[in-house]
Amino acid sequence: MSQAAGEKKMEKFDVVIRDGRLIDGTGAPAQAMDVAISGERIAAIAVPQDSGHWLGALEIDASDRVLAPGFIDVHTHDDNAVLINPAMAAKISQGVTTVIVGNCGISLAPITDIDPPPPLNLLGGRESFHYESMAVYLAAVEAARPSVNVAALVGHGTLRVGRMDDLNRTATADEIADMRDKLAASLAAGAIGLSTGLHYKTSDAADMEEVIALAEVVSATGGIYTTHMRNEADHIMASLQETQTTAQRANVPVVVSHHKCSGPANWGRSGETLAFIEEARNSVTMGLDAYPYAAGSTVLDPDWVNDQIRIMITTSEPHPEASGRDLADIAAEWDCSLKEAAIRLSPGGAIYFQIDEADMQRILAYPPTMIGSDGLPHDEHPHPRLWGTFPRVLGLYCRELGLFDLETAVHKMTGLPAKTFGLADRGTVQVGAFADLVVFDPARIIDRATFEKPLQQSIGIDYVLVNGTLSLLQGNLCPERAGQVVRNH
Ligand code: ZN
Ligand code: CU
Repeated sequence: MSQAAGEKKMEKFDVVIRDGRLIDGTGAPAQAMDVAISGERIAAIAVPQDSGHWLGALEIDASDRVLAPGFIDVHTHDDNAVLINPAMAAKISQGVTTVIVGNCGISLAPITDIDPPPPLNLLGGRESFHYESMAVYLAAVEAARPSVNVAALVGHGTLRVGRMDDLNRTATADEIADMRDKLAASLAAGAIGLSTGLHYKTSDAADMEEVIALAEVVSATGGIYTTHMRNEADHIMASLQETQTTAQRANVPVVVSHHKCSGPANWGRSGETLAFIEEARNSVTMGLDAYPYAAGSTVLDPDWVNDQIRIMITTSEPHPEASGRDLADIAAEWDCSLKEAAIRLSPGGAIYFQIDEADMQRILAYPPTMIGSDGLPHDEHPHPRLWGTFPRVLGLYCRELGLFDLETAVHKMTGLPAKTFGLADRGTVQVGAFADLVVFDPARIIDRATFEKPLQQSIGIDYVLVNGTLSLLQGNLCPERAGQVVRNH
């Protein structure tokens, strides 16, 4: 055959992914596109008719599949997990390629030599807290080379525990000055912002002025402020107002973490809260994240238990055998009150069935809502969100229940979070971007982790690439790990 005019010379790439339906993460409609990768980055994107001359050292057939940016888990407590379990199977198996750690005011750095009070103990025990600076922590993440990229927030709770001798009051001017210095040093080392957990006992005595004084430091660096608000129940509107005022006065973009209306008395109020957020977005940069379950999970606190909702134990130091059991059953067996049982089970963790499914769906469907798992990797019997969040959104809430189209679902877990958190060259499929990619079957993708059996891998994810390196192949983890630290500059 003679060389036809227009036939091109072979072009070589490390990886070529062919015949997939490309959903690029921006929210734009899917298109049939082939993608080529050189090194860590996307080198070329073309319609299949124009990529016949491409040759990949690795060729991936994505026919009947969706090719999308790797998912960004905006709300995690993986600070320690990425170090001690860098394979990060729970995340990479869902198509997650980047995790944001340090949420809810809880970060592993900068702090040393503490017996971590709840909720800092969600990250591990005393032996886990030995990073005196964010620079040292991020270097340790780089050395561990987890399978996923890591961006870190600085926890307000961590700063308080590290500086204050009494957590039951607001910080003094000297303490605030020292916390500001630590925060500034952490941001200079590459942390992307500040988180608070104003609901927790480490931080609930902090007033808004204390938080604003810290959030101002973030403003100067172009970072972000995320908040587990003071109240997600009866006083949720006051907390949303506080969040807006804080963002406004500190001049910083804010993300409302794991937005929910907690407790039966507040079920149905998401119409009210989303209307507030919609209005607030006219004056401040406000985003939010949510997980696709009608139950939350955190530390077990005897002050939070009541008989209005089901509570399941996820972990208990004195009674590990209680993991996976309902608190009510344990209390009945011990012939004591729920509170007494919770006291005996502490320190520990629990799942609180405190959310209304209709509220959760309304929040999930709200266009600015991003997806964040809030998974707790150290629990013995964790909330299923740890292993199931992203496939559940794509399989159950997108495909089966039709809450949004696939392009929107992907945008909520890729382009939108990358833009919100300032993750440069990630979250969309474009030439020059990092090759964080996932190939999945839109007809089959689904979570399998349940409240009863939470440690189950999702299905329907064929390939995951992190910085150009194949990291998951037909559901199996690859030996090579290629995650990087994502810094704010
Ligand atoms: Zn939280
Ligand atoms: Cu959290």
